[in-house]
This record gives sequence, C-alpha cells and structure tokens, in this order.
Amino acid sequence: MGCAISGLTPKPVGEVKDEAPIVHLTVEHKGLIKDTWKVIQENIAKVGIIMFVGLFETHPECKDVFFLFRDVEDLERLRNSKELKTHGLRIMHFIEKSVARLDQTERLDQMILDLGRSHYRYNAPPKYYMYVGTEFIRAVQPILKERWTHEVEEAWKTLFQHMAGIMKKGYLEEEINQRNAVANTCRERPEKMLNVI
Ligand code: HEM
Repeated sequence: MGCAISGLTPKPVGEVKDEAPIVHLTVEHKGLIKDTWKVIQENIAKVGIIMFVGLFETHPECKDVFFLFRDVEDLERLRNSKELKTHGLRIMHFIEKSVARLDQTERLDQMILDLGRSHYRYNAPPKYYMYVGTEFIRAVQPILKERWTHEVEEAWKTLFQHMAGIMKKGYLEEEINQRNAVANTCRERPEKMLNVI
C-alpha cells in the first residue's frame, strides 16, 4: 500500500544534472582580482550598499525575497539604512573570503556550494545570482578609476559566473534533498503528511 496522499507529495528525484558548464578562472583572472580587491576592500561598505540598491532598482522583485526590505518602497531610505549596510557587508565579506581562497579551489567551491544550498532556504532562485555580479561591477568601476580595464572587468565577471554556476548547483541539490525528505516522510509516516500539506 502506498502513501495515501502520494499524489500530492513530491516524488523522490535523483542527482542534479549539469545544465550549464561551470566557468573557471585563469591564473591571469586570479591575479587581476587579487590586485584590484585591495582597492575595493577600502570601500567595502560603500560597494555593498551601491550593489544592493542597484540590484533592487534593476530587479525590484529581488527585494521581495528579503524579509527586512520587502516593505520599503523608498530606495533612498534604504540607501541610508543600517540593515542594508549590514547585509551588503555580509555579501562583501563572502567575496573577500572567495578572493582569499582563489588558489584553494576545493575550499572555495565548497563554500559557494553551501551558499547556494542556503539560498534555496532563503527562496532566492538562481536566475538572479548573476545580477549581483553585474551590480558589483557597476559599483566598483568608478572606485577603481584608471585601474579599470577590459581585462579587470572580464576577471570579475568570470568570478561571478563561477559563483553563480556553483550556487545554482547547491540550490538544485538542496531542492532535491528537501523534496526527497518530504517524499520519505510521506512513505514512512503518511499520517504526518497531513500536517505538512
Ligand atoms: C552572487 C550572488 C550572491 C551572493 C554571493 C550572496 C551572498 C549571501 C550571503 C553571504 C548571505 C549571508 C548568509 C549566508 O551566508 O547564508 C546571503 C543571504 C541572503 N541572500 Fe544572498 N547572495 C547572492 C545573491 C542573492 C540574490 C540574487 C538574492 C535574492 C533574489 C539573495 C537573497 C538572500 C537572502 C534572502 C538572504 C538571507 C537574508 C537574511 O538573513 O535576512 N541573495 N547572501
């Protein structure tokens, strides 16, 4: 006898299929990122704020995912909010850690994979991840002034493409885990499912 409500519960699914190849960084990319990070780091809070306001301006739907910001209509007010500064810094410190781990690929990729998993729980889907990279690049360009070159832009873009690809993998893995957990509960304790749906 199967689960009484199996028609309503997600079916267990297998491994994440690699839909798009993960983009990798060259030695030159890594060098350019490390060099320019030193200047970006001096403006870390400012970049975090500009990046977030830019993300919310260009993709207002991203704001809805944030419990703290979803009801704030006025982006100018957000620009000066302590919460946005704090959250911007959390992301910037993640980028800082990524830069520090550029030569430890396994550690770097595991950290990004875990971040992707947590973004499934935050309800933040992969189609938006690269927008953060675009806004980061827009924010750092004026700060880097004459240091900004096409090669520097390509290097940072590649890092964000790498992050977006692995975050997506983590997100999809977590989605499968959660669905399997629900499907297993359904098989083993059908009566419990009445509380889930
Ligand atoms: C390259 C892209 C991104 C990076 C590097 C990034 C990084 C982070 C980091 C470091 C945190 C702190 C918590 C943790 O470590 O799990 C976080 C939290 C979060 N992120 Fe992202 N993120 C990205 C894209 C996005 C996008 C596009 C959205 C929305 C559509 C989003 C929504 C969230 C939410 C809702 C939280 C939790 C906020 C809270 O604690 O209240 N993230 N992110």
